[in-house]
Amino acid sequence: DLRGVIALDGPSGTGKSTVARRLASTLRAGYLDTGAMYRAVTLAVLRAGGDATEIARTARVEMGTDPADPAVSLDGADVAAEIRGPEVTLAVSEVSAVAEVRRILVDQQRAIIASVLAEKGGIVVEGRDIGTTVAPDAELKVYLTASADARAQRRSRQDLAAGRTATVEETLADVQRRDDYDSSRAVSPLRQAEDAVELDTTDLDLPGVLASLLDIVDSRG
Ligand code: C5P
Repeated sequence: DLRGVIALDGPSGTGKSTVARRLASTLRAGYLDTGAMYRAVTLAVLRAGGDATEIARTARVEMGTDPADPAVSLDGADVAAEIRGPEVTLAVSEVSAVAEVRRILVDQQRAIIASVLAEKGGIVVEGRDIGTTVAPDAELKVYLTASADARAQRRSRQDLAAGRTATVEETLADVQRRDDYDSSRAVSPLRQAEDAVELDTTDLDLPGVLASLLDIVDSRG
């Protein structure tokens, strides 16, 4: 079983979420999807309007940390499906670029990580800045990459499975727009930590990515 933190970072469409959950289940560890936290705050901003920092401070975002059931609620209501919709996806990078919003959520993320570590001993945390900012002392940092085309294909399949339709071209444009935004923001931009292992998932399917990750975990003892 996992002891400590595994940080899984990288852009969208690398298979990060699915593989993070599987990895956490396999290692009998907890799981935290930090992207879902930025998405939930973004949903609150879209609903209420107004200052993102103020909303981040007052919104009650609750995260399930069981990889079998990673629930997300906002002010007591389940928002797991809604936060993946196009409105939130379009707005989330802008909200995530606000320094104070990040400060508030990073504090919450560290508190969740500490409580899961106390309870279960291990946690897989996925996002953009886990290895660089949220958990710089993580036992293992992996940076997932894939070609933009492969990432757009994956997102399109996920969208279709969830009943959302968009062309691969639209999805590719969205993936690239968010990458640019997330990589160029001033506060903890998307980038690979110096001590992270890079894993290119372009030509791997889900079992392949999981097997590679388990190899990396094993090789670290
Ligand atoms: O991982 P996901 O695609 O759900 O993340 C949605 C957005 O949340 C990202 O595009 C990024 O703008 C933001 N994010 C972030 N830092 C994280 C996780 C997500 O800025 N640790």
